[in-house]
Amino acid sequence: MAKALNPELPLPQHVAIIMDGNGRWAEERGLKRTEGHKEGLNALKRTIVAAAKLKIKVLTVYAFSTENWARPKREVQYLMSLPHLLNQKVMPELMKNNVRVCLTGNREHVPDKTWSYIESAVKKTADNDGLILNIAFNYGSRLEIVKACQSLAKEAAEGQLDPVDIDEESFSQHLQTAFLGDLQDPDLLIRSSGEIRLSNYLLWQLAYSEFVFTDTKWPDFDEDVFYACLAEFQHRQRRFGKV
Ligand code: FPP
Repeated sequence: MAKALNPELPLPQHVAIIMDGNGRWAEERGLKRTEGHKEGLNALKRTIVAAAKLKIKVLTVYAFSTENWARPKREVQYLMSLPHLLNQKVMPELMKNNVRVCLTGNREHVPDKTWSYIESAVKKTADNDGLILNIAFNYGSRLEIVKACQSLAKEAAEGQLDPVDIDEESFSQHLQTAFLGDLQDPDLLIRSSGEIRLSNYLLWQLAYSEFVFTDTKWPDFDEDVFYACLAEFQHRQRRFGKV
């Protein structure tokens, strides 16, 4: 039996999601994998509305990883069209629910058109001050960490930084999620579809997060499953290395 949300217990402020299982969901139904991604966008819409309603502050979603380029060309092409569909099909809900779109990821290799739709969503929602929808697009955590090291090494080589002053705080500020400030580290990671791994997602930021894995494939993810994941979080004891 799924646990119910307890209004007395805190909710996570930052939820990170690995929206997994779109391809299998489609294949099980004799559909093309891209149909799974299309339905996955609807599941994301439902989750955004539910998160905004609960006053969660940040939702970071893994929309395209640096490893996803290795998928068949047609699937990659479809995934590159999702930012357009986000503008077309999800924008009214984003505006109605005061959601601000932000981006974590890399510009390299992304078609100009795709990038311009991401920028357009960021721009249109820039004045909203509710839930932050942080889209991890062409994102890979190892690459992010390597880039942070490069940037710190450059500052040191140019004499702007003494290497002994590099600490966890200054390192965090060189990551692509630095713009989130105090909310940079997710309190909760949810991965759908029964897979239990991190897949190069927010490796630094998830150091003290709670992990919840659900068997539900992402296109079937809805408010009830989301609430069950949040209730599971509420029953965890977070110790941050202490007793
Ligand atoms: C992983 O499932 C899912 C993706 C690579 C794409 C996720 C994208 C969305 C849900 C749409 C949101 C998009 C934007 C731009 C906000 P999978 O294909 O690996 O599933 P499988 O493991 O069953 O093959």
